[in-house]
Amino acid sequence: MSRVTQLRTFMALIGGLFSVMAFAAVELDDTSRKEVYERIAPVTKVCLQGEECASNLGAAPVAASGPRSGEAVYGQFCTACHSSGILGAPKNGDSAAWNTRLTEAGSLDKVISKAIVGFNSMPPRGTCGDCSDEEFGNAVKFMSGLK
Ligand code: HEC
Repeated sequence: MSRVTQLRTFMALIGGLFSVMAFAAVELDDTSRKEVYERIAPVTKVCLQGEECASNLGAAPVAASGPRSGEAVYGQFCTACHSSGILGAPKNGDSAAWNTRLTEAGSLDKVISKAIVGFNSMPPRGTCGDCSDEEFGNAVKFMSGLK
């Protein structure tokens, strides 16, 4: 093999190699291209006031999952007194006792509002200081069964 032929063969090989590499480089399918773009995307994006922010930052934190259930509030705050009936508290599930309260107060709303401000040994909001009226009412409904 002459030197020239050797050189040509070599060049052809190199050329082939390059074209294979070039081929590999451009032949990204849409999925991998998208992945590449995501990987090289800036970590944060600026969003201007009044504009929607880019969705890849995730939605704005969702306000907690709505009002707490009566069961949850009862279990955390009311059970201390209302499960045993300590200090004369009407007991959880004691419908006779709760019906008496209902008759005395006149309506469920009044039973609730009376307990929100507190009276005798019933502390305001039953010690659930951050309970909304709705959450407190849920707890009253849960343990009294009143509707
Ligand atoms: C420290 C004890 C205590 C805790 C804690 C407590 N209660 Fe009471 N609750 C009482 C007592 C005692 C009474 C009865 C007071 C009376 O009749 O003199 C009462 C009465 C009530 C009444 C009756 C109101 C009426 O019109 O007669 C409601 C409603 C009530 N509680 C709701 C709750 C809820 C809801 C919670 C929890 C968020 C709670 N309580 C936590 C002690 C407690």
